[in-house]
Amino acid sequence: MVKVLITGGCGFIGSNLVRHVLSNHADWNVVNLDLLTYAGNLENLAGLDKDYPKRYSFVRGDISDAKFINALFAKEKFNIVLNLAAESHVDRSIEDPGVFLSTNILGTQILLDASLKNKVERFVQISTDEVYGSLGKEGRFVETMNMAPNSPYSASKASADLMVRAYVKTYNFDATITRCSNNYGPYQFPEKLIPLMVLNASEDKELPVYGDGKNVRDWIYVEDHCRGIVAVAQKGKSGEAYNMGGDAEKENIEIIKLILDSMNKPHSLIKFVKDRPGHDFRYAMDFTKIKNDLGWTPQTTFEKGIKNTIKWYLENNQWCASVRSGTYKDYYQRMYGNR
Ligand code: NAD
Ligand code: TYD
Repeated sequence: MVKVLITGGCGFIGSNLVRHVLSNHADWNVVNLDLLTYAGNLENLAGLDKDYPKRYSFVRGDISDAKFINALFAKEKFNIVLNLAAESHVDRSIEDPGVFLSTNILGTQILLDASLKNKVERFVQISTDEVYGSLGKEGRFVETMNMAPNSPYSASKASADLMVRAYVKTYNFDATITRCSNNYGPYQFPEKLIPLMVLNASEDKELPVYGDGKNVRDWIYVEDHCRGIVAVAQKGKSGEAYNMGGDAEKENIEIIKLILDSMNKPHSLIKFVKDRPGHDFRYAMDFTKIKNDLGWTPQTTFEKGIKNTIKWYLENNQWCASVRSGTYKDYYQRMYGNR
């Protein structure tokens, strides 16, 4: 059996990844380590400890607490570490960058250190396309580009990538990096574009569009990203970074109109609000490397993925209500109250 630590397993991508691994890789045992910040929700994994009593366990803890992490690693003897734990929202990083540095940079370094000391065989750092900065109308991000992050969030993720590189070069540690574009799908916290717009539309609330809505993101269905993370863990080359994308570039306004149309809601719910400071104009991924080297490509078209996703949010009222009744509401007021 392979013992895998997934950090951030109660978040959006982490919870999809835990489910993906348990149902597709019978020889992997999963320990899910999560601090349960505002974005971590145990309901995302409801029932898994009963379905997989021998292969799944949850530990609450902070990746930036070295004492705790060292004790956990000494006890568990992990073969693989998949590091997804992070502060992940750009708008929050603009409001309060500090915790992005402690979790995303220091937390990653503490995990790298514990992994090195305890002879972890493979470390995968889950990074983002945002480390490359912003594109104009043409071109796509390739792994050989210089990093040029523009937000405190992306700068913290780029710093973590550099720390991973340093552990590979300095200590000959086995580590890889994945850089993926914007994910969407079930269990995404409704501060991010797609779930926020679906839930607001379902309650006939305004849909806040930053700037002119013409910013472009390359959308990938979360399950495709999860498959890619496993492929990199199994077959990636140490020291390499691998881009992933969905081959689905869309302007924000296009997605928002599609959501409204598919829910039979009027476009008059759209409200153009003040732009995000330093708002990256466009992200688009060239994923030739992972396609050629590891045989990975995205499998879910945007049309199919967005349909599934809208349906999931509309059918999972209880999950949405419980997420929305938490601190999310205060945050929403702070972010949009005076906009
Ligand atoms: P998320 O915010 O939904 O989940 C993050 C999880 O990390 C939460 O469960 C939270 O409780 C946990 N966490 C936060 N701080 C922690 C700490 N100090 N110790 C332990 N756990 C902690 O994020 P997500 O969208 O699922 O993203 C997961 C990872 O993938 C992140 O590293 C992010 O940078 C990266 N990524 C996300 C996207 C995207 O579109 N969402 C795209 C590319 C890469
Ligand atoms: P987001 O989901 O926050 O992801 P990221 O900033 O990491 O790409 O935002 C996606 C795009 O949607 C981004 O261009 C900002 C825009 N956006 C809005 O227009 N309104 C909103 O309320 C949110 C949350 C995002």
